[in-house]
Amino acid sequence: MSYPYQIKSLEQYHEVYKKSVTQPEAFWAEIAEYFLWKKKWDKVLDWNFKEPKIQWFRGATLNITENCLDRHLQENGNTTAIIFEPNNPSEKSISLSYKELHFRVMQFANVLKNNCVKKGDRVLIYMGMIPELAIAVLACARLGAVHSVVFGGFSAQSISDRLHDAKAEFIITCDGAFRGEKIIPLKNVIDDALVNCDFVKKVIVVERTQTPVSMLKQRDLWWHEEIKKVELQGNPFCEAEEMNAEDILFILYTSGSTGKPKGVVHTCAGYMVWANYTFVNVFQYQKNQVYFCTADVGWITGHSYILYGPLSAGATTLMFEGIPTFPDAGRFWDIVDKHQVNILYTAPTAIRSLMSFGLAPLRNKNLSSLKVLGTVGEPINEEAWHWYDKNIGKEKCPIVDTWWQTETGGIMISNLAGITPAKPSYATLPLPGVQPILVDETGNEIVGNNVSGNLCMKFPWPGMLRTTYGDHERCRQTYFSTYENLYFTGDGCLRDADGNYRITGRVDDVLNVSGHRIGTAEVENAINMHNGVVESAVVGYPHDIKGQGIYAYVIFSGGLNDADLMRKDILQTVTRIIGAIAKPDKIQFVSGLPKTRSGKIMRRILRKIAEGETENLGDTTTLLDPNVVGDIKNGKI
Ligand code: WT7
Repeated sequence: MSYPYQIKSLEQYHEVYKKSVTQPEAFWAEIAEYFLWKKKWDKVLDWNFKEPKIQWFRGATLNITENCLDRHLQENGNTTAIIFEPNNPSEKSISLSYKELHFRVMQFANVLKNNCVKKGDRVLIYMGMIPELAIAVLACARLGAVHSVVFGGFSAQSISDRLHDAKAEFIITCDGAFRGEKIIPLKNVIDDALVNCDFVKKVIVVERTQTPVSMLKQRDLWWHEEIKKVELQGNPFCEAEEMNAEDILFILYTSGSTGKPKGVVHTCAGYMVWANYTFVNVFQYQKNQVYFCTADVGWITGHSYILYGPLSAGATTLMFEGIPTFPDAGRFWDIVDKHQVNILYTAPTAIRSLMSFGLAPLRNKNLSSLKVLGTVGEPINEEAWHWYDKNIGKEKCPIVDTWWQTETGGIMISNLAGITPAKPSYATLPLPGVQPILVDETGNEIVGNNVSGNLCMKFPWPGMLRTTYGDHERCRQTYFSTYENLYFTGDGCLRDADGNYRITGRVDDVLNVSGHRIGTAEVENAINMHNGVVESAVVGYPHDIKGQGIYAYVIFSGGLNDADLMRKDILQTVTRIIGAIAKPDKIQFVSGLPKTRSGKIMRRILRKIAEGETENLGDTTTLLDPNVVGDIKNGKI
């Protein structure tokens, strides 16, 4: 398989970039020709950022699974689509060819059909990283059901919130998930979530860990038993539903600066083209290469770069069930060695964490198959970049630093492996089709180079979000109202003398902890649920491994007899309300918070104190009670 739209030189990059800006519709129409459509589009793009209204390939119909599966069968049916590497290295890995994956997706789509799942229905997926997860996602897409995958680290409360928001009547889950030494009891969590979700009709459960579960009559079904029924029905085929280009493909919940996660909506055609085009170009994927993205399918990275991007490109994608440090910190390198991985895509957090184990875990690991390395999710510091380059890439693998967001659907700013130059800690240049712009606080464009500002996009791209589920106004407000006629990313950014972009981090109240996005307001809400808490304020602070850590200032009611016990209680509350990923790293009990006369918490001051700054706290004269600042500084932990 070759990709005619794969950019092969720096000159070509510049040429193609220019075309993407001057003739965007012609540019995308040409690329879209290489996909399988049931019906071609009438109009490539119709848009305004005011409402916003974004329509790509309007009038076209397709099914993304035909692009990810059916169209590969004839020439590449026996190519491995998915390599599954289990948590426990002594368990056998599994390979599924495109033919097998196609078969199993149709089979499970028939299970969903038997259980009355139809086009447009929302299906919540809460599973570990096993092949059935890929099959479940693709089976939904086959029928045109809208999947919403929830990461296995989220709590019952978070699942219940998402079920209500998406009005999802179907769930696919597992009895449990293996994660290092632990077993996460997924079905039990679902049961807790369902206590107040009686609209859920069916829960299909994969048996993976043999964790004891309670199966409710009528509602709960075993995956393997449902598959047996389909086998007995005898017809393995399942037609791919004809989807309009702008029908919803999936909802993925993500945090923002307000308390409630929002359902980012991606649609069928634009997302497909974007995931594929970015995968092929950024990683410079070549036929038969083995590609390993270490993310979880519960995040956008897993959607776009474990499943849809690679599979639509006919690639071999590796799914890893476990964690980088089990059974030891050499696990990634074992996997690279064992499966002859050519492309490795991971997070700076993982690199920094593995760095801290030194070089011993690399001993006797053959990494010579590696050709391309990538990072995603957060800024990568130069030290980690060089460690990755030297010890993993042996200074012969280009590293792509890919900047993008759940909302962008796929990679926006990145070097193209081996084609455009890398620069440590810079995402470098926008992909053709991406038109970044830096603006100041008032929305004026910051022109020229060697400048910094807030990162926006001035033109749509096929993979961008279309709305936030059930609340279009929220989408408009969050992304399209800060600056007129621009999509605002929420990131600060600088542009160097050569036009390279470097993302400097969020400028809103959103934290990036180990590459996971967490809203400070969400964590505050969770802390405030504890009945001893009067008020709290959460900020981020630099953390050596996680990038950012979570620092919580908490006002406690009544006497505080045992601060450590209270801290544990609060952590327990956060785990229960959101999930363990949102647990504060530090909790400081305070008697008051720095507030302005109008009652607004001055987070700027709290951030500085959390960062360890004690002197230059800026202007504190507008504070209602400037004395609290001294108390907080003295009590810093
Ligand atoms: C936020 C998006 C992109 C998928 C994983 C995270 C930060 C992402 C980079 C990078 C610096 C980055 C941004 C962005 N971010 N990639 N290469 N360099 N920062 O997706 O949860 O939607 O978070 O992650 O701050 O806004 P997400």
